[in-house]
Amino acid sequence: MARFRLRASLAVLVLALVSVAGGVVAATQSSDEQALQPTRQQADRDVERRVNRLLARMTLQEKLEQIQLLPDFLVTEDEVRRGLGSVLSVTDPVRIRELQRIAVEESRLKIPILFAFDTIHGFRTVFPIPLGAGASFDPQVAFDDHKYGARESAVVGLKQTYAPMVDVSHEPRWGRIAEAAGEDPYLNSVMAAARVKAIQGDDYSAPDKLVASPKHLVAYGEPEGGRDYNTTDLSEQRLRNLYLPPFKAAIDAGADTAMCSFNAINGVPGCANDYTMNEILKGEWRFDGFVESDWTAVSELRACPPRNPDQGECGHGVAADGPEAAALALNAGVDSEMTSTLIRDFGAELLRQGRIEMRRIDDAVRRILRVKFRAGLFENPYAPVPPDQAEAEMLKPDAVAAARNAASRSMVLLRNEGGVLPLDPDKKTAVIGPLARNQHDMLGPWWGAGRDTDVVTVLDGIDQQNTAATTYAEGCKLSNTEPPHTDPEGCGSDAGFAEAVEVAEAADQVVLALGETREMSGEAAARSTLDLPGRQEELLRAIEATGKPVAVVLFSGRPLALENIVDDAPAILQAWFPGVQAGPAVADVVFGKVNPGGKLPVSFPRRLGQTPIYYNHEPTGRPCNPDVKWNSRYRDIPSCSPLFVFGHGLSYTTFEVSDLRLSSSTVSRNGRLEASVTVRNTGDRSGDEVVQLYLHDPVASISQPVRRLRGFERVTLDAGQSRTVTFTLDKSDFGFWDNRGRFVVEPGRIDVYAGNSSSAELTESFTVRR
Ligand code: BGC
Repeated sequence: MARFRLRASLAVLVLALVSVAGGVVAATQSSDEQALQPTRQQADRDVERRVNRLLARMTLQEKLEQIQLLPDFLVTEDEVRRGLGSVLSVTDPVRIRELQRIAVEESRLKIPILFAFDTIHGFRTVFPIPLGAGASFDPQVAFDDHKYGARESAVVGLKQTYAPMVDVSHEPRWGRIAEAAGEDPYLNSVMAAARVKAIQGDDYSAPDKLVASPKHLVAYGEPEGGRDYNTTDLSEQRLRNLYLPPFKAAIDAGADTAMCSFNAINGVPGCANDYTMNEILKGEWRFDGFVESDWTAVSELRACPPRNPDQGECGHGVAADGPEAAALALNAGVDSEMTSTLIRDFGAELLRQGRIEMRRIDDAVRRILRVKFRAGLFENPYAPVPPDQAEAEMLKPDAVAAARNAASRSMVLLRNEGGVLPLDPDKKTAVIGPLARNQHDMLGPWWGAGRDTDVVTVLDGIDQQNTAATTYAEGCKLSNTEPPHTDPEGCGSDAGFAEAVEVAEAADQVVLALGETREMSGEAAARSTLDLPGRQEELLRAIEATGKPVAVVLFSGRPLALENIVDDAPAILQAWFPGVQAGPAVADVVFGKVNPGGKLPVSFPRRLGQTPIYYNHEPTGRPCNPDVKWNSRYRDIPSCSPLFVFGHGLSYTTFEVSDLRLSSSTVSRNGRLEASVTVRNTGDRSGDEVVQLYLHDPVASISQPVRRLRGFERVTLDAGQSRTVTFTLDKSDFGFWDNRGRFVVEPGRIDVYAGNSSSAELTESFTVRR
């Protein structure tokens, strides 16, 4: 959708009309457009003066220390006295306070430390994983996640979060697909912007705000084979049309730091990439904050075997040794080096040799100090509450309620044959499966400071809302082992199946909690199959064979390939990893207190061999036709589609999307038009629908995706109620980036599709005039 360049106050345009029983009332801008509203602020002259004054007093060694960012297990008090710039992953408020005290009292220039942490989906109040929040199609869910995550992080003295993770991905084998909003650049952009606004607010010096760091620049989400850190080769147009937009949205929302990625694109590692960091981020986008390298990404630039320093693992092979890696990273735009210490250690030597310039060191330090001044650290270096009061600020009722709401809004009803769901809370309910009485896995990967003991299990959640008896059987046990191992996933035995069947038979209905462990997702957690781990498919069949109504609740950090079970599971609720309120949120949806309204942010393939499969693919000269040879098809799959398409999700009620109208049939290249569509709840209970708008450019200088999402709105409607949703379209929607890095708006027809999934059928067209 259009990114309004007007001031926020002007931009709350009245765009939509809401028709409710008995009248028509005005609505405001759609929530995706509101989230994308740019809020980046101008540089403040006073801050710039203070930065320059401080920089003028710094020695070279103090500047190199500012550039250094060390993790909890490497930080020393002596290093802090020497002027260490930043620290990551210390979360103990007592330790943070002491290190900060040393920095502001005992270092020569008294420059405060910036404390950082991966608050990815909650600090202590863990929210659903970001892929789940993506499924909510509700920017408020992403906003709430980081609003409370920032508040709880700030309370212990943290001031930066390595979030949002905004890597678009077509690669379900990759464990980190769990960490962003899936396969679509527009959905990721909306969620990224909402997250940044929640993390930073208008002014991140506020006591409950942090500075955000979108990561990982860029295209880290497409590692070949799905193996983490692996290489990526991609065209300029894909880089700009698919992978950069969420970063741009995050920067426009004000993000003041960013993280470069481990992986190489087109042979150039993310933290040695002059083009993406210097030219695009700092040049084209005028980003004046700083870039930190990911973990040891700077030292990973070295050759294999590495020389000088001659220890450590093999690297990308774009630098012969440590000094060359330091020079390459700094010159390409890295301002702060995480974990490895090459810029600090070799900076002076490199400067003497003329391989780096003082100007560039000053620029890096200026960026870091600018963020520290904007963060208010010089005035308030300490946490807003004393360390012994931090615990009382965790898991407060407002945060826990928001986590529960977010979890239930993230759930996607994939299937509900015969209306199995919702179950009846007055009937005897068996809760079965390896994830039924489980706290650990519900937190998902990147659980922040979350504790297993904070989690309400599915079993307890169901039990609390079930007025009849709730019973339990595990069925089989999943495993969390790392290599060397013989059974990395578990559920390899059927020894518990008989007991599970007995428990199912004694109940009136069954909730079957299946899926992955949290260790199967996240960093360095690629899987070579998308099947349900172990013998869970067999467990499902055994329970189905009892003839009881069974609702499968699936937990995973990626799309699973459900082809083998779909016919055996009439009701499937995709719950992702829901966080601390897993149990209550599952019970809310399973018993119908909450009507599910989430939609898939990624395509669910039929089987692994179909991947990568994504809705916004380019057309081919031989479009897929499973029945005819010489087409782009698999000869052993009688379908071209995924099992569940992007944007799919059912409800306990039904909706009709109709009446797609355009405000004009033509538009100038710089003009705009409106597309409106009416959605009606045609069922007999209140529920949510996500209205989705897609565009397609049928004739363009480079082949355009068959569909691109350009607008969505999640609406709640009572039975019989309808609403008209209006989206604004401009060149940001009908233009595209070409392979020379130019944004082009070409004249010609544009097709518009509207509906409630990426298979939307309502269509209209308009023409972009010459
Ligand atoms: C991850 C980053 C994370 C960093 C610090 C790295 O291994 O790739 O996403 O922010 O560690 O924890």
